[in-house]
Parts: sequence; C-alpha cells; structure tokens
Amino acid sequence: MKFITRLWGSSLGKKYLMALSGIALWFFVIGHLLGNLQVFLGPDKINTYAAFLKSQPGLLWGARLGLLAMVALHVSSAISLTNLNRNARPQPYGHPRAPFGSSYASRTMMMSGLIVAAFIIYHLLHYTVQTPAVNLTGVDFSEYQEAVGTTTRHDVYRMIIIGFRHPLVSLFYIVAVGLLSLHLSHGLSSMFQSLGITRWSKTGRDCLARTAGLITFVGYASIPVAVLLGLGKEVVK
Ligand code: HEM
Repeated sequence: MKFITRLWGSSLGKKYLMALSGIALWFFVIGHLLGNLQVFLGPDKINTYAAFLKSQPGLLWGARLGLLAMVALHVSSAISLTNLNRNARPQPYGHPRAPFGSSYASRTMMMSGLIVAAFIIYHLLHYTVQTPAVNLTGVDFSEYQEAVGTTTRHDVYRMIIIGFRHPLVSLFYIVAVGLLSLHLSHGLSSMFQSLGITRWSKTGRDCLARTAGLITFVGYASIPVAVLLGLGKEVVK
C-alpha cells in the first residue's frame, strides 16, 4: 500500500500504476477469452468450467475484488494524468485535430475507455446478474439449468447462445470488443513506453500491440458471429 501511495505521488509513478493495472486487466481479458472460447467445444466443456469457477468462492471473489481494485487504479490514474496534462498546458493546441505524434487511438483513449466501462456494466447485468430486461428477449437466464446426475448446474452454454441470437445484442458486443481491442492495443504501446521497454524498435512494439489487439478482437467477436451463423441452434426450442 505504501508503495502504491509513493508511486501515486508523481506523474511518472502514476504512469507506472496505469501500466501495471493495465497489464493485470490484460491478463484477465486473455483468461476470460480462453474460458469463453470453450463454447466452441460444446455445452459440457463450458458448463463444467463455469461450475468449477462457481465451486471455488475464494478464488472467484479474490479475482473479482482484485479486478475491481485494478479497474479503480486504472481509471483513477487515467483521470489524474489527464488533469495533470491539462493543467500543464491549459491553452489547447492551435490546431485541435493536429495528428502530430499521436495516433487516432491515443486521442480517443478516454472515450474508448468510457465506452468499454459502459459495456462492462451492461455485460455484468446481461450474464452475471442475468437481469431479464437487458437481454432484449425478456427470458430469465437463471432458469437455464442442466441436469447432471442427481444435481443441476447453470447452463452457461444455452445462456450464451440465446444471449447472442439477438442481432442487436451481438452487434453491440462486436462494436464494444472492437473498441476494447483498440484501447488495449494503444494501451500496450504506451505501456512499453511507460515501463521503458525499448528493446524492440517503436515499429516492432506497435506491430506487436496491434497484433495482440487484433487477436483479442477476432477471439471475442468470433463468438457472437458464430452464434448468428447458427452455432448452438439445437438448444433453441
Ligand atoms: C464474446 C464475448 C464474451 C462472452 C461470451 C462473455 C461471457 C461471460 C459470461 C458467461 C460471464 C458470466 C460468468 C458467470 O457468472 O457464470 C461473464 C462474466 C464477466 N465478463 Fe464476460 N464475456 C465476453 C466478453 C467480455 C469482455 C470483452 C469483458 C471485459 C473486458 C468481459 C468481462 C467480464 C467480467 C468482468 C465478468 C464478471 C466476472 C465475475 O465476476 O463473475 N467479458 N462473461
């Protein structure tokens, strides 16, 4: 905690905190993607995986609280650094759209970050809290239970399939993961800079960051696209 307070005291320290919390969030994004891709292996695999996570409340709540702390650190350091930059140069640049030295993604980091945050709130209501009003079909996902031997478990596979069969919901997810990937790819380039990782050329680092963003986009977007193309249609009665 003392270490974090000391880092928070300088703008360089805040950049470090932003980069480190960004890495932690990246790890979550990759882990969650690998978990979700199990939807392509059929209901049993993804339902077993989800049931395993639910059966480990310590692990689940530890990860949730850690994630929340990382989001709080990332957002607060972003706001604080933006304010510091503004105060350092209160006069806007003469040509506000001048693209010198900054990419489209960097100029829109705050905006894409806010939209990603709004998407996460929607996503939590959709799949974690399972609020019927937000899935646009009005069905209660918590009723999707699968019998396993003498007990039942949540049918996450069916929830995902029904959840993405609505084209508007799928479109929203695809746009949101597109923005998330842009945000992540620019974030990764900045992180190399903030942490002084200059082993590779700037072109090499940017290429790596873009590839990682593209893989994230293709991975996440493949799920709603596959559902719209018919994946899992057998679970729809
Ligand atoms: C195709 C895309 C996605 C699918 C199919 C998907 C699927 C799911 C499912 C099924 C859950 C609920 C798990 C449960 O409670 O049983 C969940 C939770 C969650 N997802 Fe996603 N997700 C997707 C994209 C994303 C993205 C892009 C992010 C964030 C960057 C994200 C962040 C989260 C978070 C934070 C939770 C809550 C974890 C928890 O505390 O339980 N998801 N997701």
